[in-house]
Amino acid sequence: MIQRPRRLRKNQLIRDMVAETKLSADMFIYPYFIVPGKGVKHPIPSMPGIHHFSIDELLKDVERGLKYGVNRLLLFGVGEEKSEHAQGAYDPHSVVPEALRQLRHSFGDELYLITDVCVCAYTTHGHCGILEDDYVQNDPTLDVLAKMALTHARAGADMVAPSDMMDGRVGAIRRALDQEGLVNTAIMSYAVKFAGAYYGPFREAADSAPGKGDRKSYQLDFRNAREALREAALDEEEGADILMVKPALAYLDLIASLRNATHLPVACYNVSGEYSMVKAAAMNGWADERAMVMENMYAFARAGAGIIISYHTRDIVEKNWL
Ligand code: PBG
Ligand code: ZN
Repeated sequence: MIQRPRRLRKNQLIRDMVAETKLSADMFIYPYFIVPGKGVKHPIPSMPGIHHFSIDELLKDVERGLKYGVNRLLLFGVGEEKSEHAQGAYDPHSVVPEALRQLRHSFGDELYLITDVCVCAYTTHGHCGILEDDYVQNDPTLDVLAKMALTHARAGADMVAPSDMMDGRVGAIRRALDQEGLVNTAIMSYAVKFAGAYYGPFREAADSAPGKGDRKSYQLDFRNAREALREAALDEEEGADILMVKPALAYLDLIASLRNATHLPVACYNVSGEYSMVKAAAMNGWADERAMVMENMYAFARAGAGIIISYHTRDIVEKNWL
């Protein structure tokens, strides 16, 4: 035998030398759920290890994470005033802009702050847009999303991340930011976002499940890979700076093909359902949590993601799993 691939697997030293995929703490973004009030740090039952934080508790938790280099954060507002037309989504006194100001005040440029831009946590019906005749109206929603992005950018967001899947929203947000001179506020688009069951725990956490119907008239159909690349190409044309694939685990094929189709950085969102699945297995003693988590993270990177949004970030970084 001449060919013996096992030679390169003999011990850890040679395995590490030939490893094709490397991970670093810089690649990870950690999500936070922020609620109104004071002294709140409530565990989210469907997402063990993840909490709802009021801003005062958020500041303490962020400070703990910062010691380990958890400094890229994705912020979600939860439990805010809901209305038919989602006015709360762009209220400069709601929790997300308030948190942005306080985080910036306390930590300055040590943090890179990203906000989710979508109205589902702010609408009475729980849809990601303005609802009329039981249909989520595309163009009227663009205006609200642009206002929401502006509110976040003015409060200090470095980057906004629209997750609604309306047509034309990246362009609408880019124009609104530029008109205000906010030319350096970046946009990470949830470009390839599929309708599916993996957002279940998040919707419990964010209280954002649609009261009636589902999100299939705006989020992608998971049977379609070519359409997914079309969505990504449109977002790139409209001015997105980073393209994201979501969910991640069941969509590794799209991470890989998007990586080849674009020159923009590719991110993936290791979503709530993927997190809870792993946590549930680990808590039952059915599998080794660290091993399973890291196998998934390497899979995202190997597929082509340079950026990983994950609820596991704190464990990975603080427990030195890298
Ligand atoms: C809001 C939004 C969702 C997620 C991120 N932004 C939920 C949804 O689209 O229903 C999901 C995140 C997760 O499941 O971890 N549109
Ligand atoms: Zn939404």
